[in-house]
Amino acid sequence: MVGSFVTRMAEPLVLNDVDALRGQLAHWRARRETVALVPTMGALHDGHVSLGRIAQTRAHHVVYTIFVNPTQFAPTEDLSAYPRTFDADRAKLSALGADAIFAPTPDIMYPPGFATTITLSGPAVSGLEDRFRPTHFAGVATVVAKLLIQAMPDLAIFGEKDFQQLAVIRQLVRDLDLPITIAGGPTLRESDGLAMSSRNVYLSPDERASAPLLQRVLSEAAAAIAAGEDPDSVLAYGRERILQGGFALDYLEWRDAMSLGAASRQKPSRLLVAAKIGRTRLIDNVGVPAGGEP
Ligand code: PAF
Repeated sequence: MVGSFVTRMAEPLVLNDVDALRGQLAHWRARRETVALVPTMGALHDGHVSLGRIAQTRAHHVVYTIFVNPTQFAPTEDLSAYPRTFDADRAKLSALGADAIFAPTPDIMYPPGFATTITLSGPAVSGLEDRFRPTHFAGVATVVAKLLIQAMPDLAIFGEKDFQQLAVIRQLVRDLDLPITIAGGPTLRESDGLAMSSRNVYLSPDERASAPLLQRVLSEAAAAIAAGEDPDSVLAYGRERILQGGFALDYLEWRDAMSLGAASRQKPSRLLVAAKIGRTRLIDNVGVPAGGEP
């Protein structure tokens, strides 16, 4: 917990290389102060800021990373079009009272000759995002492993909106024995239920008006499954509604919340969706309370 003896700096320090990051963390550690890391790719919205607020309740210092990681983009995904808004991001983190921003360049993260990639199984190959973005999680896991090893924070926090990513990172940290607590932060939503995302800016007004359907389908389907309705019928009905709503559906699935394998009502589970409206791909998920067979 944050001690009252810690005075937060007005402007976050901006650290551009690994030595600067490690030096700053060593300084805090020497004072027996704890550090939470919030990895991001920038284009920060209120959802990212909410992760920092949670982090501030769990560590003395909060460090955001801002790095648009090229290795998690497929050649078909436009890396150069990803929004880069460093000045606005820094202003938000300053208002939050974040202590530091680690903003390395691609050369620092992937110097010439870089040749290591983490190979994954388990939740990374559960047939959800990986079916549509087959190289994505290797890129995410590699960069997250690097960020965690560079900083060695006490805690790192990731949004639950990217639920498969969170499961992959939990597995990675367990498998590699990294002594870091991984926390998930709840998805922040607009007033009509749409999950906050850096991609929402790409929605046209009509698409924006249709987009909250995903969350409505998820929450109604979760309630129906929890109430004992047949999951296959619930999912079939949900898929139909999403298609009728003008989306191209990638998946709507009910999965175990830890392994992302087959779900059951006895264990915490999750409903996950990915669908495209126009050119924008949206993902979302909600929890299904564990209950027991009806
Ligand atoms: O969720 C994100 O923004 C990214 O996938 C992450 C975890 C920062 C890795 O680049």
